Amino acid sequence: MEIRLEGLTKIFTDKTGKETRAVDDLSITIPSGKLVGLLGPSGCGKSTTLFMIAGLHKPSGGKIFFGDDDVTRLAPEKRGIGLVFQNYALYPHMTVRQNIMFPLENLNISQKQANKLVEEMASLVGIRDQLDKKPSQLSGGQQQRVAIARALVKKPRVLLLDEPLSNLDARLRLQTREEIKRIQRETGITTIFVTHDQEEAMSISDSMVVLNFGVEQQMDAPQVMYTNPKNLFVAKFLGNPPINTFEGKVVNGKVTIGDGLVIGEAKVADGTYYVGVRPEDFRVDSAGFEVDTKGIEHIGRDTMIRFELNKIQLRAMLDSDTVYGQKNIKLVVKPGKIHLFDKVTGNVL
Ligand SMILES: Nc1ncnc2c1ncn2[C@@H]1O[C@H](COP(=O)(O)OP(=O)(O)OP(=O)(O)O)[C@@H](O)[C@H]1O
Ligand SMILES: [Mg+2]
Repeated sequence: MEIRLEGLTKIFTDKTGKETRAVDDLSITIPSGKLVGLLGPSGCGKSTTLFMIAGLHKPSGGKIFFGDDDVTRLAPEKRGIGLVFQNYALYPHMTVRQNIMFPLENLNISQKQANKLVEEMASLVGIRDQLDKKPSQLSGGQQQRVAIARALVKKPRVLLLDEPLSNLDARLRLQTREEIKRIQRETGITTIFVTHDQEEAMSISDSMVVLNFGVEQQMDAPQVMYTNPKNLFVAKFLGNPPINTFEGKVVNGKVTIGDGLVIGEAKVADGTYYVGVRPEDFRVDSAGFEVDTKGIEHIGRDTMIRFELNKIQLRAMLDSDTVYGQKNIKLVVKPGKIHLFDKVTGNVL
């Protein structure tokens, strides 16, 4: 089921009359059967967007479509959505089986049918052998899978996940996100996955939407967005270690840094720009500029070098083999890997 947002807006007004535009004129289409990551810093409007799609918040403006149905004013329980939050919110006094079965209570189906559905969902999320335990007897990752089974048991049209992995430790997060991806593929259910973790969003999403102050910055497949960020905000938000950014000049098609050191070429008008270079886009090359190394970190396969170039602090992520034991490291920027952004708007050139 395709989800289409048209000019979706939410304005909160506090007691003093001060307005917050939590979501501002958001128009995006989530393709049917895809998993779309909704990404951005804390307070950028991710949950508010999700809650409007779920029907828990009334939009201040704009429309929400599920396929051809305008659901903007439809009650939450009539939308056919499954919701999973950060805190699994399972009922502690009920068994896992009863928890998953709970949404079926008011439906007109037999106990036998209900049990069959519960067991089907439990198998799907890999907790078939945990059905008679209480939630407190499960690990965090298992509890979150129970929450997903509960969200899916009514066969919703849309699955909405709001930071479902935040309470898990690093390893469980990794495992559970792979599980979510598998479950989403197997069921083919259109899914929106909210997170503030760019790595998590990049690894799980078919495509991602980045928000800042309630405004859409870019929607693209993760790798496309990483290589071709539309603005400085997106460029900085994706990537760890983050992209190097600094002020630079373009003179006769040459990109220069500091007092005129040429680091590459660009076909843009002469002027001053923000320059972005990802740490992995430097390469060791004897014809390159000499690096004034301020620190080295060996991270297995990679080596991170902190260095200064004309007083600008930069980071390069290099293949450990190419720098091991080297004294005077010389670097170049790989061809085509310089990003230039407008100094006023921050938009890519
Ligand atoms: N019920 C509310 N009343 C007033 N303001 C709200 C309400 N809910 C959210 N806001 C404000 O709207 C903005 C967006 O909040 P939202 O919860 O959507 O952010 P978020 O992207 O989910 O952040 P986080 O990553 O911290 O969960 C914030 O400025 C927040 O303070
Ligand atoms: Mg939130």
